[in-house]
Amino acid sequence: MNIAFIGIGQVGGALAGGLLRAGHRVLIAARDLQSESVRRAIQANPGLQAMSASEAVHLAEVVFLATPYSANGDALADLDLSGKVLVDCTNPVGPGLSHGLNSRTSGGEEVQRLAPGARVVKAFTIYGFENFEDNRYPAYGSLKPAMLIAGDDDGAKAVVGGLCDALGWRPVDVGPLASALHLEHMTLLWIRMARQQGRGPNFVWAMLERGAAT
Ligand SMILES: NC(=O)c1ccc[n+]([C@@H]2O[C@H](COP(=O)([O-])OP(=O)(O)OC[C@H]3O[C@@H](n4cnc5c(N)ncnc54)[C@H](OP(=O)(O)O)[C@@H]3O)[C@@H](O)[C@H]2O)c1
Repeated sequence: MNIAFIGIGQVGGALAGGLLRAGHRVLIAARDLQSESVRRAIQANPGLQAMSASEAVHLAEVVFLATPYSANGDALADLDLSGKVLVDCTNPVGPGLSHGLNSRTSGGEEVQRLAPGARVVKAFTIYGFENFEDNRYPAYGSLKPAMLIAGDDDGAKAVVGGLCDALGWRPVDVGPLASALHLEHMTLLWIRMARQQGRGPNFVWAMLERGAAT
């Protein structure tokens, strides 16, 4: 599959590397081909291909948005994302680790407003980038870490669920895009625990279901 990344920093770089290793063609939708983040990402994963944002988005079936939340409007402007699966990895974080939109709506729904024709799925937000670089927790055997995803388009969620699976996550569909608000709150909890309370980044959530096949 052709997959494009708008934003190729800590989050984008880690996910792009994993998807490349999973056998996908991964394109950097670069605003500046010479930027430090593009250079670093290609150095880490020479198989990445950088090109203009419009060209990468045109070629891609799936587009990851991994920019600072405040840059989303600028990053999405002038791009034709109609019909594309748009994976929103961004988090609106406000002062004091509050929700950046005061919990009135989710960042995921705001991304949908910025790209009305796209099939937005909120995913890869609820943990720090360290877990996108390496999500192996070998002490738990075959139990996969959970990746919670939200979106209004079931087909798009199936595509993103497949990518989660390929990256070693168990995708868990938490419902419509409006549920992204709850994922963004989970993110704030994770950041608080990992970065403020001294637990560090090496933990994730798992989904245990009574009666489910193991
Ligand atoms: N860090 C985490 O642990 C983590 C975990 C989950 C989710 N998130 C969320 O993921 C997003 C990215 O975080 P990050 O830590 O990966 O950030 P980062 O390392 O600072 O990378 C940001 C990327 O976005 C690009 N960018 C900035 N402004 C842009 C614009 N106007 N148009 C196009 N590209 C632009 C940057 O390119 P340049 O090099 O050209 O500036 C860079 O490639 C944030 O919304 C964050 O809340 C972060």
